[in-house]
Amino acid sequence: LSELAGALDPARSIVVTDAALRGRYGASFPPCPVIEVPAGEAAKQLSELGRVYEELARAGLDREGTIVAIGGGSVSDLAGFAAATWLRGVDFCAAPTTLLAMVDAALGGKNGVDLGGRKNLVGSWKLPRLVLCDVELLASLPDDEFASGMAEAIKHAVIEGGEHFAFLESECRSRPALDAARLDRLVGLSQAVKLGIVERDPRESGERRLLNLGHTIGHAVESATGLPHGHSVAAGLGAAFALASRRAGARRRGAVEADAARVASLLASWGLPASVSAARELALSRGPAAALASALRDDVAYRGAVAAALVSDKKRSGGVVRFALPEGIARVAIEPVALDELEAFVWEAP
Ligand SMILES: NC(=O)c1ccc[n+]([C@@H]2O[C@H](COP(=O)([O-])OP(=O)(O)OC[C@H]3O[C@@H](n4cnc5c(N)ncnc54)[C@H](O)[C@@H]3O)[C@@H](O)[C@H]2O)c1
Repeated sequence: LSELAGALDPARSIVVTDAALRGRYGASFPPCPVIEVPAGEAAKQLSELGRVYEELARAGLDREGTIVAIGGGSVSDLAGFAAATWLRGVDFCAAPTTLLAMVDAALGGKNGVDLGGRKNLVGSWKLPRLVLCDVELLASLPDDEFASGMAEAIKHAVIEGGEHFAFLESECRSRPALDAARLDRLVGLSQAVKLGIVERDPRESGERRLLNLGHTIGHAVESATGLPHGHSVAAGLGAAFALASRRAGARRRGAVEADAARVASLLASWGLPASVSAARELALSRGPAAALASALRDDVAYRGAVAAALVSDKKRSGGVVRFALPEGIARVAIEPVALDELEAFVWEAP
C-alpha cells in the first residue's frame, strides 16, 4: 500500500475510504486529503456521492486530479462513479482491501450506487488507471468477507477450468491453507480471467456476460436473504448448475451433475451455500434482518420473494435473459432463457 504514493501525484490526488480502514491502514496511505464514507453498502448512496462531490470541490480537485479508492467493492463502486463524473471524468486508481474487490469489483470499470433499494441502478463505466493489490491487507478481513470473495474466485475458476479450477480444488479449501504464495496465485489467476474477458468485451455485448455466472439468480437471492454478495452468488452458481442439468439431454446430464458436485463441494468448504434452499437456511441461521425474517421462515413466501426480485431485476430484458449456463467446468455458455422459465425454476430449484 505504501507504494501507492509513488504512482500518484499526491498534491493532485484524493483518497476515498471508510473510517475503520483509515484507522487501521491510514499510516500507509499516500499523503493527500482523505474523504471518509460509511463502511459497506451504506456508501453506495446518492447522498454519499453528493457529499463526496462537495468534498472534492472543497479540496479543489482539478481535471488533472486522481480519485483513489482504498477499500472494498462498496468504496470502489462509489469512488469510481465519482471519478467518472467529477468534472466529466478524472483519473481513477484503486487499492482494493477485500478479496472480492481484488478479484472482481475493482477491475473491469463498472461502478455505481444503489437507488430505492435496488442495487447499482445508477452508474457508469470507468476503467482505473492503476489497481494496486496488497494481499497483506487481507489478514484483517473477517472470515465471512473472505468467503464472500472466494465465491467470485470460484466463479472465475469455473469459467476457466483446467489447472485453475484444480488449484482451487486441491490447495484453496481453507484460509490457513492460503499462505502468501497461494494467495498471490489465487488472486492472479482470478484477475487474469476477468481482465482477459473485459479486454475482449469491455461493454458486455457478448463474452463478458460469462462473468454474470451465478448473478442472475444470485442477485434475487441477495435481495430475499440479505446474505453478502458472494454468498448469494454462490447460491446462484449452484442454482445455475441445477438449471443446466435440467436442460441437458440424457447423454450430458451425468457429466453436468458430476461437475456441479465438484463446485458444490468447493463452495461448501468455504461455508458458502450452493442452492436456493441452502441460502435460506444460512440466512435463517444468522438471524436475518426483521424486514426479511417472516418471508424467510416460510418456503413458499421465500421462493415468491426470490421470483419477484428476479422478475423485477430482469423485466427490462424483453422476456428473455441471456443466461450464463454452466454446462460443466470450463463449459459455460450464454443461452437465451425465457424469464418465465427462470421464474418457474426458482419455485422448483433445490
Ligand atoms: N463493480 C463491480 O464490478 C462489482 C463486482 C462485484 C461486486 N461489486 C460490489 O461490491 C460491493 C461489495 O464489496 P466487498 O465485498 O468488497 O465489501 P465492502 O466494500 O462492502 O466491505 C465490507 C466490509 O469489509 C470491511 N473491510 C474492507 N477491507 C477490509 C480489510 N482489509 N480488513 C478489515 N475489514 C475490511 C469494510 O470496512 C466493510 O465493513 C457490493 O456493493 C457489490 O455490488 C461490484
